[in-house]
Amino acid sequence: MYTKDKKFISGMFDEISPTYDKLNHLFSANQDKRWRKTAVKKLQNKGIKPKFILDLAAGSGDLGIEFLKLNPVQLFSTDISLEMLKINAVKNPDKRNILLKAEAERLPFPDNFFDLAGISFGIRNFERLDTCLKEIKRVLKKDGRLLVIEMFRPERKTIIHTLFDFYFSRLVTELGNKLSKSKYAYNYLFNSVNTFKSAAEYKALLHKSGFEVEYSKNNFLGIVNSVQAKKI
Ligand SMILES: C[S@@+](CC[C@H](N)C(=O)[O-])C[C@H]1O[C@@H](n2cnc3c(N)ncnc32)[C@H](O)[C@@H]1O
Repeated sequence: MYTKDKKFISGMFDEISPTYDKLNHLFSANQDKRWRKTAVKKLQNKGIKPKFILDLAAGSGDLGIEFLKLNPVQLFSTDISLEMLKINAVKNPDKRNILLKAEAERLPFPDNFFDLAGISFGIRNFERLDTCLKEIKRVLKKDGRLLVIEMFRPERKTIIHTLFDFYFSRLVTELGNKLSKSKYAYNYLFNSVNTFKSAAEYKALLHKSGFEVEYSKNNFLGIVNSVQAKKI
């Protein structure tokens, strides 16, 4: 079954929350930590000093942990999965990390509030991407930044991508389901990457939605991309 229905998605992440971090690190050979760290460092190197930061689809909080290093900041971490947020609270008990159960399609924040919004490995799961981008634009200040780190569908599939698909569809799917004790979560993961936009399509959508792409870096055969954009 493949759906982006929010009840299904939050239930699935609730279910896999106890093993989520471990399996992320295992399947990416610990590279996921580096991708988040490097993307946040890049903001810092560019002299961007956000005060109010939104970690959207924050899950267990690894991006938020990097954001807090940009001190002084106030972080709001939102997600639809309560169990993921509970793990976030334990991992990141900092007073500057405010946790909220909220949908990306309906953010409980005023207009022009945030200096920075970040989404790592979350945007691919959103039911209505256009609506979310409108909401993110609404809550960002002018010149506010949107940082997305995501697994995008490769533009062209080379032999290496075909081999990766094999690794992903067999090893990651079977082992992921088994270790997380889920019947379908890692099948969902495979389908969600293969049916999502390519990085180029995402950048075109950003442009259409009132953002200017400032920086983009691809990792992992061009599948994982960090895309930094500015609200114009
Ligand atoms: C793959 S996890 C990513 C978690 C974390 N950002 C990270 O880097 O590991 C995706 C998260 O997106 C959340 N999510 C999915 N759809 C959402 C939506 N429409 N609104 C808010 N959160 C959503 C899920 O509950 C899940 O915690």
